[in-house]
Amino acid sequence: MSPNYNKPTLKNVYYGDVINSLPTMNGKTVAITGTTSGTGYIAAKTMAELGARLFVLNRASKKAENALETLNAAFPEAEIVSIECDLQNFESVREAAHQVNALCAEGLDVLCNNAGVMALEDLATPDGFDVQMQTNHLSHFLLTKELFPSLEKAAELRGEARIVNHSSVARFGKKLESKYLEKNGGNLGGNGSSMLFGGARWVRYQQTKLANAAFTSCLHEKLQKANPKIKAMVAHPGLATTSLQDTTVGDGGMGSWFTGLFMRAGQSQEDGAIGIIKGMADPASKSGDFIGPGKSRTAMKGPVVHFQLEDFYNNPETRELLWSKSCEAIGDNFEIK
Ligand SMILES: NC(=O)c1ccc[n+]([C@@H]2O[C@H](COP(=O)([O-])OP(=O)(O)OC[C@H]3O[C@@H](n4cnc5c(N)ncnc54)[C@H](OP(=O)(O)O)[C@@H]3O)[C@@H](O)[C@H]2O)c1
Repeated sequence: MSPNYNKPTLKNVYYGDVINSLPTMNGKTVAITGTTSGTGYIAAKTMAELGARLFVLNRASKKAENALETLNAAFPEAEIVSIECDLQNFESVREAAHQVNALCAEGLDVLCNNAGVMALEDLATPDGFDVQMQTNHLSHFLLTKELFPSLEKAAELRGEARIVNHSSVARFGKKLESKYLEKNGGNLGGNGSSMLFGGARWVRYQQTKLANAAFTSCLHEKLQKANPKIKAMVAHPGLATTSLQDTTVGDGGMGSWFTGLFMRAGQSQEDGAIGIIKGMADPASKSGDFIGPGKSRTAMKGPVVHFQLEDFYNNPETRELLWSKSCEAIGDNFEIK
């Protein structure tokens, strides 16, 4: 999508040095959602460059075909497998996971749940859930559950596997509420678009990004007990000039003048992708780490730091809510033992 606002050109500040510091991913298999643009595209490119075998999970589109073509042209030696996966549709996610598992006899080393949408209209998916919550969290919960045996296999064979979720500074705000995880799509507050004064589109987005962090808290807690060889981490990109804002402006969730001004406070998509990339490949990243350019709600850019999961979702009540409602939504139990 071409920018529909005055997108600033922001130079990479940190990306080159960080990537040069990472070890090879040779012999590792990685799956990433949402690689048609933005942080997911940069992560896919970086993983191919580091020598990983790569699964790119995207819904079908010309944009997805173009992104794959560009990756294949840049890395002709890399094995890049494209799997159709529409995160607005649980059946599509199940089918995608089935295909990945079938091609991962030697296990899946890294799953990066990156894809997302922001501040879209109050609409239901065909499964009945909020379009933002199903895309950003519920389908990633299902994908993680379905791919879990392949992650276990990699951990058993190579001593480690990783799940990396993608949250946001938008995680701050209301505490997690069950109604956003239930079949209430299209009935969750309407289309108020004020980012600063509680517009409903932004409250729904905030709940999804809080869910990404709470999901990590659940995984970390369960995995530390059941299988610490599998690590769960979460990252945030600060404010990065990806296609996310183009989609939101196009949907009426942000004004183009404001967005042009706002994005000048951000960073390049390469610098924004460093959090997930370090989660996926940096030996120093530990289970339970939050990785991003600072821990405050104004952490829009800068070198990434590793910080701890935060009390407002890293607590038993939120974990119980997140896990039980997510299992209810996908109609299945996700047991980690
Ligand atoms: N950019 C920022 O400032 C910022 C800030 C905080 C958090 N984040 C998070 O970063 C993550 C990546 O976003 P981005 O900024 O890189 O935006 P982006 O450039 O728009 O990338 C989003 C990706 O998600 C995919 N996606 C959306 N809906 C999908 C669906 N139903 N099924 C499959 N894939 C779907 C998009 O694919 P299509 O081409 O099919 O739409 C695209 O590949 C998101 O989780 C976002 O919440 C970004």
